[in-house]
Amino acid sequence: MRFVLSSAPGKCILFGEHAVVYGYPAIAMALSLNSTCSIEEIEENKIEIILKNYNQSFISSNLEDFLSKIPPQFNQIGYCLKIINNRFNTKFKKIRIIISSSLFPSSGLGSSASISAALIMAINEFYDLYLQKEEISKIAYEMEKIVHGTPSGIDNTICTFGNMIFFQKGKYHFIEIPNDFLILITYTNVKHNTKEAIEQLRKLKNEQPVLCDLILERIGTYTEIAELELINGNLIEIGNLMNSNQKLLASLNLSNEVINEILKISFENGAFGSKLTGAGLGGCVISVGDKTTLKNLSSVLNNKGFKSLLSRIDKEGVRIEEKQ
Ligand code: MEV
Repeated sequence: MRFVLSSAPGKCILFGEHAVVYGYPAIAMALSLNSTCSIEEIEENKIEIILKNYNQSFISSNLEDFLSKIPPQFNQIGYCLKIINNRFNTKFKKIRIIISSSLFPSSGLGSSASISAALIMAINEFYDLYLQKEEISKIAYEMEKIVHGTPSGIDNTICTFGNMIFFQKGKYHFIEIPNDFLILITYTNVKHNTKEAIEQLRKLKNEQPVLCDLILERIGTYTEIAELELINGNLIEIGNLMNSNQKLLASLNLSNEVINEILKISFENGAFGSKLTGAGLGGCVISVGDKTTLKNLSSVLNNKGFKSLLSRIDKEGVRIEEKQ
């Protein structure tokens, strides 16, 4: 019986979230936390899909039946199977798909893009479709549109290609950093909705276009400077730029009280800099600093009831982990 297991990293945005939706640059880093997807051949003539994190499973006799059963919040999965079937006539049957993720959902860590990339990669391998990563990222982008409305494309790109990228208007290049790069990720315990956050900013931008454009442009400038500091490995300056980026995001009403509390604790415990990551209004906060400081800060934050952990860069992006 055939079996494949794929994985795709999650991501955090170091600089430029939201501004990237309006054509300014952003920098994202792939994380050592990931999502996985396995596909195994089964005897019975059915499609079984298990979503481990949600304790949900769906059993269908065929794709049409599955598409009619899947609840709207998992539309991206149905949509993925549908577009692949339309293009490659895969006629999904006699398979069990298991999807699981170590990323907090709706937290700014790219769980939806990472799940999409892992799912497409597993299908690609299981059905010998020979899709290149460019193509996988494109399909994941289509799935992101289902979840987020008008995404910039940064999440599917970083979750597919891994590493650290400078992304602008659909184009990207890798950023080569000199040293290993550790980042502390702290979950606020508040889920956010990327689509709503993007909408909220769009409304504000319609009401105050000149001010919002100035702020977004400034975020873009910080992002450009941050790339140089990342290449130079200047952690202190990267921290300062994160603090500045955070202030601008807060001025766009994308921060909140819990984020502010984590920022304060991070500052008091010696982090070089911290900011929200992703859509904001909850989700996660990232912090940079030296290793000992970040380890200590992580336990302080965990003791206060937040979920805080250190992550390295994932260099590979989406990949096959096992195959039989
Ligand atoms: C995505 O993680 C963060 C946003 O910039 C939206 C996007 O780029 O698609 C808010």
